[in-house]
Amino acid sequence: MSQLKYENNILRFENIDIDEIAKTHQTPFYCYSKNMLTNNFNNFNNVFLDLNYKICFSLKSNSNLTLLRILASLGAGADVVSEWEFKKAIEAGIPAEKIVFSGIGKNENEIRYAIANNCFQINVESLAELKKINQIAKDLGKVQNIGIRINPDVQSDTHEKITTGSLENKFGISVNETLDIFNRINEFSSLSITSIAFHIGSNIKDLNPFKHSFEVAKHLIDKIQLNYETLKTIDVGGGISPEDRNFTFEDYYNLLITYFGKDKFNFIFEPGRLIAADAGILVSKVLYNKITEGKKFIIIDAGMNDMMRPALYDAEHEILTSKLNNSDHNIETEIVGPICETSDKFIKTDKFANIEDGDYVVIKNVGAYGSTMSSNYNARPFIEELLIDKEEIQIIRKKQSFGDFIKNEL
Ligand SMILES: Cc1ncc(COP(=O)(O)O)c(C=O)c1O
Repeated sequence: MSQLKYENNILRFENIDIDEIAKTHQTPFYCYSKNMLTNNFNNFNNVFLDLNYKICFSLKSNSNLTLLRILASLGAGADVVSEWEFKKAIEAGIPAEKIVFSGIGKNENEIRYAIANNCFQINVESLAELKKINQIAKDLGKVQNIGIRINPDVQSDTHEKITTGSLENKFGISVNETLDIFNRINEFSSLSITSIAFHIGSNIKDLNPFKHSFEVAKHLIDKIQLNYETLKTIDVGGGISPEDRNFTFEDYYNLLITYFGKDKFNFIFEPGRLIAADAGILVSKVLYNKITEGKKFIIIDAGMNDMMRPALYDAEHEILTSKLNNSDHNIETEIVGPICETSDKFIKTDKFANIEDGDYVVIKNVGAYGSTMSSNYNARPFIEELLIDKEEIQIIRKKQSFGDFIKNEL
């Protein structure tokens, strides 16, 4: 259940008034609910308890150390795509044997770091990368577990910029090439190819694309297992949408065991958005109401540098006022940021509540791909991040200072 709700017309997040938080913390800021994060993880985790599995939270969706520590305490592993994500996972207490290293362009240092630090599994996205990892593992005198990320060539009916599982996309290795790799497996003496992995996109609301990818993977695995019994892990990636899905976690579980059974394989899940999205909000102040001919702009102090999903993916995030106000202004309204870019806008609507300069708004569902995508564009600082744990508000990332911002420039 959402921790964001109106009580007596006042918007509250985990029982604290948004206006109260905003009085003592400079806007814009991210704010997370420990309760929501925990419930999201547990609700997903509880479905798979009779399987052998790891839930490797996708750090690209959110890599705040405090949030990662909470997830680590619940038993989460990590899906990482860079050396620093790997280091953050370790720093947060996630053991290397629960870390999967994904990503299409890992460099030599990153591969070396992952192998030297006992990464559970590296997911490989090309033959060239496989050769490189084999060489580095050999240099280090180690044998590295590998997942082959296949491209199941499936349309996932999500925004074109977040689909990853069709052959037009740069991700993964085709099924035929994967079979070739297994035919040449003896060339990779420092690798143990133990897993088939796939991730077909993000924010997927329908079960069919998953069904299609399971089907492709099952068919492939059946062929591979005729000769190679080392294959024992299926990494199904992430991608499950947290909202407006037409399937339940139980449907997903049933689909999974229909194809792969309960006991034959270990499973890896890599959810990001599902765990973090609705656990986070972005609180921002209205700077100006600007009314032009036939149109209104509400200019807020958060910009696309703080939350770039609308500009990058046309993502739509509901925006609430901190006080419920039933007197809508029936005029085309855009809620925009202060950045010098036309794409710096959050929402366009036919009407929005009458709101005064200095009032607060809340952008919903930004716990995933919000803070992690932020930048210093327009020389704006990384903003503060807060965690609410029942009645307590904790700063979990300080706002970046000007000194920190310029310290590496010569
Ligand atoms: C390889 C991989 N795994 C997991 C995820 C997490 O996806 P989501 O946040 O949609 O669950 C992503 C996101 O793009 C990804 O690329």
